[in-house]
Amino acid sequence: MGRVIAITNQKGGVGKTTTAVNLSASLAQRGHKVLVIDIDPQGNATSGLGIDKNTVQKSLYDVFAGECGLDQIIVPSQIPTLWIAPATPDLVGSEVELSSREDRQFVLKNELERIRAQFNYIFFDCPPSLGLLTVNSLVAADSLLVPLQCEYYALEGITALVQTVEVAKQNLNPSLEIEGVVLTMHDGRTNLSQQIEKETRDFFGDGVFETVIPRNVKLSECPSFGQPIIFYDPSSLGAGAYDSLGRELDKKHYPYMLRSEENAAKKKAKKPAVKKATKKAAKPAGKKIAKKKPATKKRATKKAGATKVAKRKIGPATKKPAGNKTAEKKTTTKKLVTKKRATKKTAAKTTKLKPSKKKTSRKKANG
Ligand SMILES: Nc1ncnc2c1ncn2[C@@H]1O[C@H](COP(=O)(O)OP(=O)(O)O)[C@@H](O)[C@H]1O
Ligand SMILES: [Mg+2]
Repeated sequence: MGRVIAITNQKGGVGKTTTAVNLSASLAQRGHKVLVIDIDPQGNATSGLGIDKNTVQKSLYDVFAGECGLDQIIVPSQIPTLWIAPATPDLVGSEVELSSREDRQFVLKNELERIRAQFNYIFFDCPPSLGLLTVNSLVAADSLLVPLQCEYYALEGITALVQTVEVAKQNLNPSLEIEGVVLTMHDGRTNLSQQIEKETRDFFGDGVFETVIPRNVKLSECPSFGQPIIFYDPSSLGAGAYDSLGRELDKKHYPYMLRSEENAAKKKAKKPAVKKATKKAAKPAGKKIAKKKPATKKRATKKAGATKVAKRKIGPATKKPAGNKTAEKKTTTKKLVTKKRATKKTAAKTTKLKPSKKKTSRKKANG
């Protein structure tokens, strides 16, 4: 069952739409099935996700007017797993349409029940008001995600919002939760941003997302191109921040998704390392050894009992010269010649050593 999250704050210009567009795109890009329902008559989320409002045939207005179902207005986006229920300016008229309906506060909830199982996340981009449109989203949502702009009056707006949530909980949706407050347009260089962050964290505690959305010019540019930040500038700070916010949501609601991503990343990281090792290091080394090993064996086996010593001596010589094969051959043959002479002595030494070892082991065993 998809998690239904209303992105809301009664204040305008705090980053609701920016969050709806970029958070949903980021989650969809990572494989989630995501639906954005644009509840704001300004339709900024619709255009921000690349939908030309002039081409929209059926919008949320038609749903609230009872002319069609929510499933009939959903259109695909440029990301295969991201869909949009678009809004057009005529949505303003829905307040009037709804007021005459008996189920006026529950229209969205009832519509959503039929399709929510098809998605992992459903986001509402709410208008900056407390009319019937916002009430519909408060009734239909599992939780609220509250963008809070790091500016002086931010916390004043928050107290009003907390009161609204309490009223909604008591009268309309007892299970409504606060998903979290996300600090937006944060500028770490200013005292004001730091002060707002501290005050918000003191007030809400764990209710504030760890991720902070920085003030990032790329985030303000991308709506005019109808692109979420992950397409417009995937390496920007804004893109990274919304990806991180998505991961925080996944940690709560789809932890297995993060685990499987981590496992896949680990596998990816391991694979090339193994390939490199086998191609560059192991294979040529193997070839060299394969060429010389039989030779050493032949010569070494002539002197029975000296095989182990011969192998040990030739081993390092074959590894040392990387590329200078002639030099390598010379050194190995030299060594082999000296070995022929030496093996007599070493073989004698080894035969001497072996019994003494046995003696000591016996001694130990006896002792
Ligand atoms: N993190 C950010 N950095 C820079 N500009 C931002 C950021 N978030 C939002 N904006 C800009 O601020 C303005 C208001 O944001 P918006 O998301 O439309 O707010 P809301 O939906 O709450 O009214 C827009 O012009 C938007 O591009
Ligand atoms: Mg908006």
